[in-house]
Amino acid sequence: MKIIITENYDQLSKKASEFIIELLKSKPKCVLGLATGTTPIGLYQNLIDAYNKGEVSFKDVTSANLDEYVGLQKDHDQSYAYFMRKNLFNHVDIKSENLNIPNGSAKDLQLECERYSNFLKDNIQDIQVLGIGSNGHIGFNEPGTPFDSTTHVVDLTESTIKDNSRLFSCIDEVPKKAITMGIGEIMKSKMVIILASGANKAQAVYNTVKGEVNTTCPASVLQNHPNCILIADKDAAKLI
Ligand code: F6R
Repeated sequence: MKIIITENYDQLSKKASEFIIELLKSKPKCVLGLATGTTPIGLYQNLIDAYNKGEVSFKDVTSANLDEYVGLQKDHDQSYAYFMRKNLFNHVDIKSENLNIPNGSAKDLQLECERYSNFLKDNIQDIQVLGIGSNGHIGFNEPGTPFDSTTHVVDLTESTIKDNSRLFSCIDEVPKKAITMGIGEIMKSKMVIILASGANKAQAVYNTVKGEVNTTCPASVLQNHPNCILIADKDAAKLI
């Protein structure tokens, strides 16, 4: 794993966007694996700026998002479908038919998992962007998830529900389940960029980089990825 430590969040976002911009220029018809959460917002803003300057286009890009809450309609303001439209898709020329996010309000969630896994088999991510949970989760693959997992429904852990409750009006509103891309499908990406910002991620970053590779810290699997870059700001990197 290659590690880049930046002075602050803005530099982290800039560094991450450089990799994506380079991909968009060299391979306009690419598959971009995307994450939600607070961490990639600066990266997405930089991509929007690059698009507005005419440096890149998304018209031939296929997106593949990591995860979605179960039970939130795609117009709910805390759904990840809504997040992606607000923070990236509405501001660039990506085509709506090329947007892919697991459907957390599908009637048959098992069938939806199979559909998404099949989509990923045919659309390997050129770059997969990841954030990291304070418990080391990637996507919503919580500790204990097998490394060969495919898209599946998960019960969110108490710590994830607590972390994410900051975005809801109260903790009871946070969905208890989500659909997530599996770790096996993340590992098939040609390149992975994992972003970590802030001191509350420092232990997870330590476990990811220096810990044993085991399911207690899902992100530790990335030590086995042939082309993974961790970009962490100083605070997140303080234990490594
Ligand atoms: C989001 C996702 C999660 C987040 C992680 C960190 O699609 O899959 O793994 O990346 O929970 O979230 P933030 O960036 O909000 O700290």
